Amino acid sequence: MPRRKKQYKSVTGMTDVLPEQQPWWEKIESVTSSIANFYRFSKISTPILEEEELFVKGTGKTTEIVEKEMYILKTKGGERLVLRPEFTPALVRSYIENGMEALPKPVKLWSMGPVFRHEKPQKGRYRQFHQFNFEVFGDKSPIIDSLLIHLFFNFLLQLGLKNWHIEINSIGCRECRPAYVKVLKRYYKKKISKICPDCRKRLKKNPLRVLDCKEEKCQRVKKLAPKIIDSLCSDCDEHFKAVLEFLDESKTFYFLNPYLVRGLDYYTKTVFEFMPGKEIGQGNRMSSLIGGGRYDLLIEELGGKPTPAIGGAGGIERIIEEMKEAKKETKPLLKKHAPSYKEKPIAFLIQIGHLARKKSLSIIEEFKKNKIKIAENLGKDNFKAQLQIASRAEVKFALILGQKECLDDTIILRNMETGIQKVIPQADIFQEIKK
Ligand code: HAM
Repeated sequence: MPRRKKQYKSVTGMTDVLPEQQPWWEKIESVTSSIANFYRFSKISTPILEEEELFVKGTGKTTEIVEKEMYILKTKGGERLVLRPEFTPALVRSYIENGMEALPKPVKLWSMGPVFRHEKPQKGRYRQFHQFNFEVFGDKSPIIDSLLIHLFFNFLLQLGLKNWHIEINSIGCRECRPAYVKVLKRYYKKKISKICPDCRKRLKKNPLRVLDCKEEKCQRVKKLAPKIIDSLCSDCDEHFKAVLEFLDESKTFYFLNPYLVRGLDYYTKTVFEFMPGKEIGQGNRMSSLIGGGRYDLLIEELGGKPTPAIGGAGGIERIIEEMKEAKKETKPLLKKHAPSYKEKPIAFLIQIGHLARKKSLSIIEEFKKNKIKIAENLGKDNFKAQLQIASRAEVKFALILGQKECLDDTIILRNMETGIQKVIPQADIFQEIKK
């Protein structure tokens, strides 16, 4: 009898993207680069293989990813390498290694590619999946948190997706988190018989993670657990309130989830997730579409200068599944959002004072709707510094917004070549620029 030939299959949890599926991927790629272009992020690509230690230190020794899910390989030379399980520590490594610390802040980077986690495969959960990542290095102001969340908000809207919601929380900092962890441990110790064996271990190794457990009995215990927002120090509390205020201002709707902690160790202050379903509890809790947060200590921990940072990543496969469910046409959008990296912004928005900074978000949004590129540096509020950046960006106009202009719905339009300025109603910005 002739021997039957072996039929090779793709590795468990890793799938082919066949030609007929490519339009969905192209659409995501094109919307990502158009969003990156509008918000002025620069693209970066890093190798898939990195040193194991980078993630042990960066992602965290006691996280599920590092404890159970990394693909580790030992080279002939004895090095221990891993297939990256996420981008963030690798992007920080590259930022430090390539001298980007010397660049004017913030440094905004985006990237896209495969990541690998040895999880139990199921719908929406793969061992090789793809992420798009947006990271902002060097700006600690809360408006940056809101702007980044708003960027992802726009991203999903631009894909035509509607069935999702944002969950947000603050997990405090080195100063205030330890006190919360104590209170949390005390609460859970009283309920020790009611939680799963994994959570009993978590309580010792990484207590915050008990709030992340999907077991039904642990979910019941969580319902009355102390909330971290009640333990925030004044700095984290003010930061969080300001993030929410800016989100309200830019009409980025969100749900507060006091138990959102995220599964990676580097986060400080704001954390967020974009979940399927219209509100908390409606979609599958296992499958966030996008997740991220602030990580003000990571760059220093990985050998860089103390530098605040924030970022987030979305899972392409999960988003495509949502798009397929929403049964959206792909072709018209493909054309509409074709990237245009080379276009320079025409204007730079200078804002002075809290009110102006808040108002800036809706002005930027209007520019986006009108497809006119505008640059900004919302982390800065010094007039001179912003004017210098505007001049370096070689824009035609600077739009200057202060307290007075906010109150009477005007804005100052400055011709950067001639230095001539005039006050115009905010409603006339586009007409004036087009002139
Ligand atoms: P993450 O929440 O682990 O965060 O992953 C981000 C996204 O990747 C998730 O929201 C989900 O869409 C997708 N994802 C995660 N695991 C899988 C899987 N097994 N199969 C399919 N999709 C998956 C991070 O990776 C952080 N680095 C995000 C970040 C960037 N934080 C700050 N900057």
